[in-house]
Amino acid sequence: MTCSLNLKTLQVYKLPDFIMSIDPDLFRQVLSQFATGITIVTTCAGEEIHGLTANAFCSVSLTPPLVLVCVDKSAHSHDLIAAGRNFAMNILKASQEELARRFATNNLAANERFAGIPFRTEATGAPILLESLGWLDCRLFAAYPGGDHTIYVGEVLALGRNQDDDPLLYFQSGYHKFEARRNPH
Ligand SMILES: Cc1cc2nc3c(=O)[nH]c(=O)nc-3n(C[C@H](O)[C@H](O)[C@H](O)COP(=O)(O)O)c2cc1C
Repeated sequence: MTCSLNLKTLQVYKLPDFIMSIDPDLFRQVLSQFATGITIVTTCAGEEIHGLTANAFCSVSLTPPLVLVCVDKSAHSHDLIAAGRNFAMNILKASQEELARRFATNNLAANERFAGIPFRTEATGAPILLESLGWLDCRLFAAYPGGDHTIYVGEVLALGRNQDDDPLLYFQSGYHKFEARRNPH
């Protein structure tokens, strides 16, 4: 039997009722088995800048160059990204765990989050953290509903690699360093 999918008619379907029985703790535990890097998503709307720690980030397309990040609707940056129509992804290095914790501290004001952190702006005005591993400055391309998050897709207008260093990793609810690169056995 062949199975074909007509993408033109693809709809967002209502989730079946059995989804409701998924245990939220188990959901978190299973997802924590997926190792990721860590980013700080920054944005600017008018005079206001803000940012949050995020690991729900991935590349989407090469032509055009697109990336996505999922942002909680309750996050302060959520509405700012929509208003400013921009965001920058700053990929953290292993020594920036303190930054990751700081930008994940609920309701910490922007001036305290960015205190002592050198940054500049590039194409969109979103802060580019100078000491990150790499960065992508994005114009908002699309926003899709994703439950209690919004899936923000950004078109990359500028990007760069800052340093050749090890990444900050996140696995099983904890921060880690990439020791295998130094000690393969
Ligand atoms: C390791 C880690 C990864 C996170 N990933 C995300 C994410 O992908 N999207 C998101 O909206 N929040 C994520 N968060 C939570 C936000 O960083 C956190 O709620 C932050 O305080 C939100 O900013 P606000 O306090 O200004 O609203 C993550 C937190 C941690 C510790």
